[in-house]
Amino acid sequence: MRSLAAALWLLLLLPAPSVVAVKEQDFKKCHESSFCRRGRALADRATEHVKSGEKWKSPYSLDASTIVLEDGGSRFTGRVRSSLYPEIKFELDVRVHEDGVVRVRMDEKEGLRKRYDEAASWALLKEPVLSPSSKWSVGKKEVKVVYGAKKDQVEVTVEFEPLVVRMKRNGKDQVVLNGQGLLHMEHFKKKVEKVEAEVPVVEGEETQKVVQLPPNSWFEGVTEDGWWEETWKTWTDTKPKGPESLSLDINFPNHGHVYGIPQHATHLDLPTTKGEGASFNDPYRLYNGDIFEYPASSSSLSLYGSIPIIHAHSADSTVAVFVAVASETWVDVAHPTQKSTETHWISESGILDIFLLPGPTPDQVFGQYARLTGAVQLPPHWSLAYHQCRWNYVSSDDIRGVQKRFDEEDIPVDVFWLDIEYSEEHKYMIWEKKYFPDPIDMLNDVAALARKMVIIVDPHIKRTVDYPVYKEGQELDLFVKNKQGNEFEGWCWSGSSAWIDFFNPNSWEWYKQLYKFNGREDGKWSWTESTSTVHIWNDMNEPAIFNGPEITMEKDSIHYGGWEHRDVHNINGMLFANTTSQAVKERTTPYNRPFVLTRSYYAGAQRFAAMWTGDNMGTWEHMAVGIPMVLSNSISGMSFTGADVGGFFGNPEPEMLTRWYFVGAFSPFFRAHAHIDTKRREPYLLAEPYKSIVREIIRLRYSLLPVWYTAFRESSVTGLPVTRPQYVVLPKNEAGFSIDDQYYVGASGLLVKPITEAGITETTVHIGEDQVYYDFYTGHAYRGSVKGKSVTVPAPLERGPLLIRGGSILPSRDRPRRSSALMKRDPFTLKVALSQSGNASGELYLDDGESYDHREGNFIWREFVAESTKKTVTISSKDLASRNPDSAVDGVELAIYNGGNAFANALDGVRVERIVVLGLKNKPTKVTLGKAHLEFTFKDGMAAAGNKEGVASKLTVKNPGAFITSDWSIVLEL
Ligand SMILES: *[C@@H]1O[C@H](CO)[C@@H](O)[C@H](O)[C@H]1NC(C)=O
Ligand SMILES: *[C@@H]1O[C@H](CO)[C@@H](O)[C@H](O)[C@H]1NC(C)=O
Repeated sequence: MRSLAAALWLLLLLPAPSVVAVKEQDFKKCHESSFCRRGRALADRATEHVKSGEKWKSPYSLDASTIVLEDGGSRFTGRVRSSLYPEIKFELDVRVHEDGVVRVRMDEKEGLRKRYDEAASWALLKEPVLSPSSKWSVGKKEVKVVYGAKKDQVEVTVEFEPLVVRMKRNGKDQVVLNGQGLLHMEHFKKKVEKVEAEVPVVEGEETQKVVQLPPNSWFEGVTEDGWWEETWKTWTDTKPKGPESLSLDINFPNHGHVYGIPQHATHLDLPTTKGEGASFNDPYRLYNGDIFEYPASSSSLSLYGSIPIIHAHSADSTVAVFVAVASETWVDVAHPTQKSTETHWISESGILDIFLLPGPTPDQVFGQYARLTGAVQLPPHWSLAYHQCRWNYVSSDDIRGVQKRFDEEDIPVDVFWLDIEYSEEHKYMIWEKKYFPDPIDMLNDVAALARKMVIIVDPHIKRTVDYPVYKEGQELDLFVKNKQGNEFEGWCWSGSSAWIDFFNPNSWEWYKQLYKFNGREDGKWSWTESTSTVHIWNDMNEPAIFNGPEITMEKDSIHYGGWEHRDVHNINGMLFANTTSQAVKERTTPYNRPFVLTRSYYAGAQRFAAMWTGDNMGTWEHMAVGIPMVLSNSISGMSFTGADVGGFFGNPEPEMLTRWYFVGAFSPFFRAHAHIDTKRREPYLLAEPYKSIVREIIRLRYSLLPVWYTAFRESSVTGLPVTRPQYVVLPKNEAGFSIDDQYYVGASGLLVKPITEAGITETTVHIGEDQVYYDFYTGHAYRGSVKGKSVTVPAPLERGPLLIRGGSILPSRDRPRRSSALMKRDPFTLKVALSQSGNASGELYLDDGESYDHREGNFIWREFVAESTKKTVTISSKDLASRNPDSAVDGVELAIYNGGNAFANALDGVRVERIVVLGLKNKPTKVTLGKAHLEFTFKDGMAAAGNKEGVASKLTVKNPGAFITSDWSIVLEL
């Protein structure tokens, strides 16, 4: 949420800082991190070798005589040797999972020490099941496995010398590991004092002649660059374990587009960092950091969270590689040709643990990744509504006043947020009673309109014994240690602070107890001044430490099990969110679905938290880059994502703020937030016409909540992202592969292209298929083409470009309410957007939105279908759940689904109040539901079929007498 600049301002009570650009020099570039330097230098030496006509051969090989087949042949292990260090033992372990994912692990064996090997165990949902049928066979030059359908065969080979892993589909390379020979696992060694003379002096030629280069220098270089210690600015990073970095090239010889490895402020289709005309000078960095006022474009600035997954895409296939590593990692991206990609991964520590996800479609890749790390949890329904936040609402009366103004202006809102100033001296969970004298009353006032509050709880614990969280944490010895083995101390919002070590299992149960608002069984302190309507925001969990190197924790600090912070840094923030989410869930009986917003995250965090893109600035550039950032997180598993509406810093002008509301209304997570120095900017403060426009945008979000919730159901079961970029929905439409300023909402058929520039009245939208698309507001029919076509769409301030894909049926609830919970029994509108062939389909998923009763079959899941014949169009509603009981909801297999479940019964009598059909070829002669003749209106216009553009015909059937929970069919006779 906040910047160091602001921290200093608060501490020193200086005048508020004006918005200044990030001090890039406060964060390392690759050349300032010794292991990254070493990794890049290795790649440079390889390139130089090849350029000068020499061969570059990886020193690593697999010793065929050591190969052992295990687990019925779906797994093998074998010894890897490096010709540079024949005495060092590496073990390779390669497995095929039942869904065709291949896991490749390599570790040093019987070395001086153990490398950190637990990254995957945190990220993975469970131990993957190995394939019962795929078997490795050992040949003369390679180990090989072949699987898949005859016409769509995957072949994975592990070549002995040099060691190369290759995944092919139908004979075509999909992923190649170590094809360029950049694999290097630095083994543990003892520190020896070096004889200075071994280092060649480049300048003096005479000296150079007598210098003997170490034999391995062609590969490793000549210096022990930062092996045992490195200094940067005022910090010294000691490395008692010595060098242990890992370098590997991961190439996609037949894929010209790569996506993923969030989080960076850049395009979805990752720009290059190497090769001619590279967009960035530095590799993409994965090192969770609190980067205040981050620039709108950067590769080296690694924002808040890291997910080491990269997707490679072509019109032929999609594949992905998940690299389970938790230490600081840099990734170079180059396109040697337009149709191929080379990536080079350099990590500071950890084993090599890589998952090859064979695809071959984007959807299959998402499924494969979700089976590894889990899908997004189905969030509480209210959390998809509008959230109002600010640093800070300053008192309980301030909260009441803001709520009152929303209601007076009829602007829907579900959640009010409290930032750090609610707490006494930033001792989280302890109210600042001067300003919040009556917290429970305040929470109840908010809850009276079925609203919630989200309150911040940060991971830095004020070091004062009058803070029970600190006192108990210290007594239980649960804090992270510094390199001397004493309590780690750093500076953050609460001043001198300690950090709970969530790698320590003893912290979990204890921490959860703190949230028991009805008191703890052991009578010790818990947050009793809280209620079941409070949910939690975890900020600063990278962790942000104001006086630490790069505003985070010293890498030589020590976690549970003796691991250094460097080994686990990128996972750290996720563990905090995990424990918090369990704490919120388990504080009531029966459990309710928790909502936790986290700033820091890692692969797997989608199972328990939503995230946002951190401290963005109130500029058009930041509004624009927020969209690819949301998409990049979404395809990497973190579907519940959004950027602060309005920008955290600055005072956006009304036009910008209005456009930003539209961006937010079409993001999975929709929250307005603002820095303490900004002017108040709640939507009711806007002048007209902006206020009314923003009210309508927020209402549109509420009316489309059924669409969002249905998309989350799908995502929580299949792993497909909630917001879907062009390449995901239309994976063969090449013209769409780099598009990241428009996207689809789930499978609903909504295509949105938010405006992120001033003064726009129209824009172009790419329609990547031969299909009709309708303007959501006007019903204007646009036509795409197989290759894709750009159409010009009006984009006035009051309606950001929003199209409905022909062939979709959208369920909505169009009655404005003050909060989403008040919509529970509201009737539905179904908007049927006929496809060129005259059909359409759509889904609706609903449950109580708060409990886990859906896992016991208490929900409805409907399918709406429109089918055309020459003379009729039949629109019907069918139960989907009874046909697909096991894939209906996340996490459980439902043995039985009962259409008459308690939730469905509670919706008895909830009507479909309107059906709108776009694109009929002519006016129906009659419309019937069973024997009943229904009234309707018809406006002439374009038919779905054909190629003319113009306003589509529109049929409206009011009160058809159909109910949302039952089966029905309406027949239109043409
Ligand atoms: C989440 O916490 C539970 C214990 O409460 C632990 O077993 C699990 O490994 C944790 N998972 C992650 C990803 O942090
Ligand atoms: C609609 O028609 C298209 C093209 O004929 C077909 O691919 C699609 O499956 C149909 N959808 C439904 C819901 O019948």
